[in-house]
Amino acid sequence: MNEVQETQASPTGNFDVFLPLRSQGALENPFAIYSLLRSVRPVMKMPTEGYDGAGVWFVTRYEDVHSILRDPHFSVDRMRAQVIRDNFERLPSFLQQAAQNVRSMLTMDPPDHTRVRKLVNKAFTPKRVEALRHHIERIVEDLLGEIEPGQPFDVIDAVAAPLPAIVIAELLGVPAEDHRQFKSWAAEIVASIGQPTLQGNRPGVSPAAEKLFEYLGKIIAERRQEPREDLISAMVLAQEENDALTDMELLATSNLILLAGHETTTNLIGNGLLALLREPDELDRLRNDLSLLPTAIEELLRYDGPVQSTVRIASEDTEIGGHEIIEGSLVLVGIGAANHDPAVFEDPERLDLGRDPNPHLAFGFGAHFCLGAQLARLEGEIALRAILERFPNLKLRIDTPKYRPNPVLRGLESLPVSQ
Ligand code: HEM
Repeated sequence: MNEVQETQASPTGNFDVFLPLRSQGALENPFAIYSLLRSVRPVMKMPTEGYDGAGVWFVTRYEDVHSILRDPHFSVDRMRAQVIRDNFERLPSFLQQAAQNVRSMLTMDPPDHTRVRKLVNKAFTPKRVEALRHHIERIVEDLLGEIEPGQPFDVIDAVAAPLPAIVIAELLGVPAEDHRQFKSWAAEIVASIGQPTLQGNRPGVSPAAEKLFEYLGKIIAERRQEPREDLISAMVLAQEENDALTDMELLATSNLILLAGHETTTNLIGNGLLALLREPDELDRLRNDLSLLPTAIEELLRYDGPVQSTVRIASEDTEIGGHEIIEGSLVLVGIGAANHDPAVFEDPERLDLGRDPNPHLAFGFGAHFCLGAQLARLEGEIALRAILERFPNLKLRIDTPKYRPNPVLRGLESLPVSQ
């Protein structure tokens, strides 16, 4: 029997739960699909052909998303999902590692989650983040200064990608000049998120993940010898002083912060600027009153957020919207869908930069609420302000810039503009 036949004969079947969200139309505008699902099948069992274990669900109503995110009966430990256990060998290797070996706080439940998060939280207090303001402003000015006056440019390449990579590298204490290198590893790894497609994938090794772990491992060892004023050194110190972190947790945390901290912020700036350029009245409104920036950032996060869904696993039998969700079911929690639910947001498809209140869930909710939310907001605000001030005639060069083929982490491949 050849390999393909073996895979087809697998008792776990071949399926891709994200299939409905992968078409070009859905990548361009997933909100139309969310809206349809929310009205006809707000708690939907995803088709998993050939697999009859505890299934996969997709929830699209704000009320359900909000309640699952704060419900301690939903776990983040991927290994509690039957579909993951049953198909483990066929998952991309980075997801295998994240689920089992290199587990970060994102996939930990209390009490481990509480312990690790408390430690890292110290680096992200509002005061510490605000202290980075001038530094971030300088990085943005330098990046914008490299753009040739009068010439077209790509916003992603020029600012949205390098800015968060440089900031997070400096914060963690990895050399900022390496940002292009780990950006490219990160891009490869992040592409595997949103690919829990069980279509006979052969796991293989992800060379990017291995290289990134090796790279971080080396820096951790260096900081152990010679601590500096950075987050990795602070974590090493905490580890030595009170046994607060295991070696693996230290590596997983550094890795999580490096990855979580930049692709998402790149997409806040990219998706956000695209939305503004497509809505000239709102763009003018903001240009005429930059004090709107804080509510504008919240609205851009709601309107076209970088994280469209996350995962929870039912740790006991439960019920959502009249459906029985059995223990071990995996729930895709529709953050992007919730943020467009008309039951909570009036006229949700309209961009309203002054929207208030705006209880969006773009940074999640509850115990795993994004640790970097303040930093992302600050970077987004500084970058958008500087771009709008420097380029008063900014225009899109193409009507429909392409989104990356990733239904979970939503962002543009490029954003070509003219000055
Ligand atoms: C606009 C940019 C960002 C967005 C939209 C975003 C979104 C999110 C979301 C939705 C979660 C919760 C996931 C879940 O509940 O399963 C999360 C968690 C997290 N984010 Fe962010 N994030 C952004 C930027 C950042 C930055 C800049 C950092 C770090 C510097 C960061 C670090 C983290 C960490 C460490 C967690 C895990 C927290 C925990 O498990 O307790 N994020 N983020």
